[in-house]
Amino acid sequence: MPVVRPHSPHRDSPRDTLTARLRAAGCVFAEDEARLLIDAARTSEELEAMADRRVAGLPLEHILGWAEFCGLRIAVAAGVFVPRRRTEFLVRQAAVLLDAWRQEAGGASRAAPVVVDLCCGSGAVGAALAARCGPVELHGADVDPAAVRCARSNILPLGGAAHEGDLYNPLPPELRGRVRLLAVNAPYVPSAQIETMPQEARLHEPRACLDGGPDGLDLQRRVVAGAPQWLAPGGHVLIETSRRQAAETAAILRCHGLAPRVLRSEKLGATVVAGLLDSPA
Ligand SMILES: C[S@@+](CC[C@H](N)C(=O)[O-])C[C@H]1O[C@@H](n2cnc3c(N)ncnc32)[C@H](O)[C@@H]1O
Repeated sequence: MPVVRPHSPHRDSPRDTLTARLRAAGCVFAEDEARLLIDAARTSEELEAMADRRVAGLPLEHILGWAEFCGLRIAVAAGVFVPRRRTEFLVRQAAVLLDAWRQEAGGASRAAPVVVDLCCGSGAVGAALAARCGPVELHGADVDPAAVRCARSNILPLGGAAHEGDLYNPLPPELRGRVRLLAVNAPYVPSAQIETMPQEARLHEPRACLDGGPDGLDLQRRVVAGAPQWLAPGGHVLIETSRRQAAETAAILRCHGLAPRVLRSEKLGATVVAGLLDSPA
């Protein structure tokens, strides 16, 4: 007598198979990633190649070519820093300050406030601020040509400009003394801690995106030293930092005549220090 085997109600779908493969490779959000990769691939060969790259450890965002940030799709090219969810806190705090300034200025200032996204990487911070806060005169700057190309693609459509060079050097000189908001997520990881970072960052983002020198604050010191020349009276610099480094970031701001305030989001695990350039009495 032939053996009749019970019919299996479901075989694994290609999506289940991909999810299992991604999970086995250590992807925490394997299900979401599988969906995104399947949506992005135009052919099964392309999907296979994308899955291979992900399993080999490439950041998902570099494979897709975009990252979600503040509800926007930000283009992110290979080798460009992937904007992190915690940096949305920097955007939120910057938006609060811009809104407050607008309310205070009322109809008195018709010009759009000047916003500079220094060390802009993909331009995610500036793009999110322009999208959220209405008309701003937006400038991004980064030392890395690949980042600047990427930032251009993200902020030009929003009316912004991206400049290439070291910190303030490439900014148009006429912005001196006019910057209402300087948003900064410069590298702040202490050099010795780079090797403890997840492989995705360590191997696929340039060291210059991460390494802030011996105590992580080298770039912040240079940013803050230049800030008073660029800020408008009553303007703010907002710097993303870590909880552990916040007191020192605040001390650097104080040292350069900027009144510091430490802001913290437990939910996002984010710390930002705001520095105010007082208006003359
Ligand atoms: C941590 S990433 C942040 C990128 C972006 N602000 C974000 O939040 O997604 C730091 C960025 O600083 C840039 N950078 C490093 N040193 C710089 C310098 N001396 N002048 C300008 N940009 C610099 C890197 O190229 C990198 O894009």
